[in-house]
Amino acid sequence: MCHALPGSAAEFASPLAAPMSDQYEDLIAEACRVREHAHAPYSDHPVGAAILDEHGTIHAGCNVENAAYPQGSCAEAGAISVMIAAGGRRILAIAVAGPGDHLCTPCGGCRQRIREFAAPDTPILIAGRDSLIARFTLAELLPESFGPDNLEGITAKPAEA
Ligand code: THU
Repeated sequence: MCHALPGSAAEFASPLAAPMSDQYEDLIAEACRVREHAHAPYSDHPVGAAILDEHGTIHAGCNVENAAYPQGSCAEAGAISVMIAAGGRRILAIAVAGPGDHLCTPCGGCRQRIREFAAPDTPILIAGRDSLIARFTLAELLPESFGPDNLEGITAKPAEA
């Protein structure tokens, strides 16, 4: 189910759509800002991502491509690394800003990366050039997912075995 929005953020149709908080505005602005630092010479598809963590701190990352193509990394992966390095452990919301006004939703791998630190109802805000164009929950983008709680009942984790 796609909550693509026909117009401004004020036209939210999703149940999550209370008036957008200043924090979400800041998150989108930060994702658009950091997109300018992307290293995307091969795809010409710069992406920025910004995470709001449990401390109220915003962490940003951009895609970093590589001449050896598979070694490139996504904006979301960069933002998660920055959050973890800063001591954050929960994603309360994440914004992803693509280069145009087409949907730039997280790739499959990044949905799973987000899953590690987020809840099913965590908002994933998708921005275009400079504003929100769609919003989803994590569960909408990654239904019936496998996460840390699915490991419950395992007595010894692999690293400890
Ligand atoms: N990309 C991201 O960084 N995040 C997304 O959500 C989708 C795709 C990057 C990967 C690659 O550098 C470029 O966009 C084109 O796929």
